[in-house]
Amino acid sequence: MKSSSPIIVALDFPSKKQALELVEKLEPNRCRLKVGKEIFTREGPQLVEELQKRGFDVFLDLKYHDIPNTVAAACRAAADLGVWMVNVHALGGQKMMETAAEALSSYEQRPQLIAVTILTSMGSEDLIKIGLPESAEANVLSLAKLAEQSGMDGVVCSPKEVTALRASRGADFQLVTPGIRPEWAAKGDQNRITTPAQAIEMGSNYLVIGRPITGADNPMDALAKIEQELAS
Ligand code: C5P
Repeated sequence: MKSSSPIIVALDFPSKKQALELVEKLEPNRCRLKVGKEIFTREGPQLVEELQKRGFDVFLDLKYHDIPNTVAAACRAAADLGVWMVNVHALGGQKMMETAAEALSSYEQRPQLIAVTILTSMGSEDLIKIGLPESAEANVLSLAKLAEQSGMDGVVCSPKEVTALRASRGADFQLVTPGIRPEWAAKGDQNRITTPAQAIEMGSNYLVIGRPITGADNPMDALAKIEQELAS
């Protein structure tokens, strides 16, 4: 682990060139980086290696969801790449999560293994159509419980779910929270948002922050403002 910062900057760029232009302005001891499906599909593991060479912890946000053997192999590949955090879909089930956790257990320095519960893009109609008639929150709580029992280190969750998850899951269970907007930042397409300080106060461990930092004229100034808010 290279950083102790709770801030994970989402590298939502279509190319390595644009991503590195931003990364050059950031300091690896002050934040970590999230690499998602778009840029990973275009640039591959070399991008992750390059970010790690520059000293950054990488959260590989590929949300694996497949048969247990395949997901476990993908998690091992992520661990071999040296990433700090990787994630899977809890809807892949208990056996899939247990096999993934087991696959990483032999690594001396293994990535944090995080589950995605219900995507925040899913409304109640969408959940009914895939055979999940309960509310999103009820599904999130039960999938998070299953994730913890299956050896996951934590879940990705919306700020709206942090309080209930912090109350129902173990103290060491990591809550990774997007949907973060400092008061001075534009909301963009995010609806259910909290400020960085509110999210941490409610019990979030890591804040995934994209545009408030990546779209700022001076990304390090934006990061510093968030750090100040967290410190006060
Ligand atoms: O720019 P912004 O701060 O909205 O970026 C948030 C990041 O977190 C994006 O990479 C987005 O895909 C991700 N995310 C999210 N909401 C979720 C899960 C992931 O915004 N429920």
